[in-house]
Amino acid sequence: MESIYGDHLPEMNKVMSCLEDSVTEIRGQLKKKYGSDPVEHCLARIKSEESMREKCRRREIPENEDSALNVLTDAIGLRVICAFVEDVYTICDDLKALSYAEVVKEKDYIRHAKPNGYRSYHMILKVSGGKLGLSRDYFAEFQLRTISMDTWAALEHHLKYKKNPSGNTELLIRELKRCADELAATDMSMQTLRNMIYRDELPE
Ligand code: GTP
Ligand code: MG
Repeated sequence: MESIYGDHLPEMNKVMSCLEDSVTEIRGQLKKKYGSDPVEHCLARIKSEESMREKCRRREIPENEDSALNVLTDAIGLRVICAFVEDVYTICDDLKALSYAEVVKEKDYIRHAKPNGYRSYHMILKVSGGKLGLSRDYFAEFQLRTISMDTWAALEHHLKYKKNPSGNTELLIRELKRCADELAATDMSMQTLRNMIYRDELPE
């Protein structure tokens, strides 16, 4: 079967590498400035053929290249995991300043957590094909979060696709939410601790 991305996969891979390189460069600059790498790790992926087709069906839009590249905006995805909350916002600002991309959508699920407790900063970038020598523009989705937020999201994602034999779904949802809030409180305390340490280290 023909790819839902048509013949754009090579260019999509270029866009993804370019964004990964930019994250690496941003990390390098921040490391120089603050003395430590703010990023724990960065993941990048092209949404698989099956997931993209499944998402089109779920959204009730045609399973074609137009949907995959122009309607849906997460064919190219990057996840940046930071140790501290403030670093998430610092990296967001640096991504917004990229010369070859513009932000077309942002969702701050950190300041405004989802009702289930999900936290992350989401950003959709439109990458200029013209500036990168490509045949067209491409969207890419960034998810920026702390290690705690990432741990929670992994567990919640796992549970979403598992049957719940206990039958006590309400309790599960409530407990997950409680964990998310506790992790967020810990993230705040850790940030405060780091600020104290950092302030003590500043030159007189
Ligand atoms: P999708 O159709 O899932 O892409 O949602 P959306 O278009 O409303 O976008 P949103 O920015 O809310 O979510 C995009 C992505 O963020 C999802 O595909 C997940 O990877 C992640 N995400 C959003 N909400 C949750 C959540 O409640 N739990 C977990 N584990 N991940 C989430
Ligand atoms: Mg998505």
